[in-house]
Amino acid sequence: QAIYSAGMAGRRPRVPVAETALEAAAQRRMAAADFAYIAGGAGRESTMAANRHAFERWRIVPRMLRDVAHRDTAITLFGRRYPQPFLLCPIGVLEAAHPGADVAVARAAAARGVPMIFSNQASRSMEDCAAAMEAVAPGAPRWFQLYWSKSDALVESLVARAEACGCEALVVTLDTTLLGWRSRDLDLAHLPFLLGRGIAQYTSDPVFTAGLDAAADDGPRPPVNLTTLRNVLAAARHYPGSSLAALTSGRALAAVRRFIATYSRPNLTWGELAWLRQRTRLPIVLKGVLDADDARMAADHGVDGLIVSNHGGRQVDGAVASLDALPAVAAAAPKLPVILDSGVRGGADVFKALALGATAVGLGRPYAYGLALAGEAGAGEVMDNLAADFELIMALAGCRGIDEIRNGAARIVPNDA
Ligand code: FNR
Repeated sequence: QAIYSAGMAGRRPRVPVAETALEAAAQRRMAAADFAYIAGGAGRESTMAANRHAFERWRIVPRMLRDVAHRDTAITLFGRRYPQPFLLCPIGVLEAAHPGADVAVARAAAARGVPMIFSNQASRSMEDCAAAMEAVAPGAPRWFQLYWSKSDALVESLVARAEACGCEALVVTLDTTLLGWRSRDLDLAHLPFLLGRGIAQYTSDPVFTAGLDAAADDGPRPPVNLTTLRNVLAAARHYPGSSLAALTSGRALAAVRRFIATYSRPNLTWGELAWLRQRTRLPIVLKGVLDADDARMAADHGVDGLIVSNHGGRQVDGAVASLDALPAVAAAAPKLPVILDSGVRGGADVFKALALGATAVGLGRPYAYGLALAGEAGAGEVMDNLAADFELIMALAGCRGIDEIRNGAARIVPNDA
């Protein structure tokens, strides 16, 4: 309503409402390499494209004369009610979009009661984001996303910090034990610049930073060549306000080196989930599940929720579209809440995902574009637009609430039916 009224009064929004215009405007605003990192996908970007095509293959069949004067878009997840059926996906290196980075997004999310999933590769620490949220709306919802480090002590520390700063769920991202083949980033040789701007959760961690100044005792050096390290230092100088520049150059180098040595555990297996389960009282949500057997395994291992995701097409080029994977995953784990991300761009997408079995959806790149264009206000507008767009679609399709969408009160049909 407010968005319409503003439009009627001739007030232009700060960020374009249409998704393609939003992305184009962000591209004009951002440095080419920063935009490439956010917008890009893996390889030939075929999975990124497939994510969108999957949504286009479904059509909503609206129902009429069903009294939609009173509507409710709220959902309940892990016992808490949220006003909208969407969360903010964890996005690393948000400094590439805007100097306000994660803190600006945290404020915008808190003002709207939209849960923000803090990234393990954030540009600002979870404590800074949590404090910003408390200042806007005490108790505003936040989750933490973990990349399972080689170091048990670091994992324990990150989990304890997440609990201490009020995170209500732990999202374990499974699809990035190795970084995907990011063709745009490789072409621009930009990865070293990015690296240093996404390690704030590490440089703010007492376990990670212990003895960092004397990093000579770190054991075998990771295979990083001198050029990479020089580029990292250049990045620190190039972005004087950045999280990396806050470290003196010697420590920055040591921090990046230690990060590369410890950040991921490619030999992780299902058995290790029990270890994590014992160390946190938070619900554990697995992100990156695309297979029904994996969904069953997750349920058998006492996991509390799933995120069906292909990381926005940034990891396995050629992977199944996230929406296409959703029905089988949801059917295989009927007791678990299932969140769908990758390719969600508008209200109709939210509707289709819910109709195909999702409990909620995750929003990725669009809020980073809003952030790039107008900081906190821009990220907030993107959330407001998605909320308004979705509520209209829901009502015009003849549904009063999320349950009616999930129960098929208005159907979706394949395009070719
Ligand atoms: C991501 N994503 C991601 N996921 C995660 O678990 N941890 C992370 O640090 C990041 N970082 C990240 C950076 C950037 C620039 C992007 C675009 C994505 C993946 C993210 O959480 C989500 O799965 C996708 O963004 C969803 O796809 P869409 O909505 O961007 O198409």
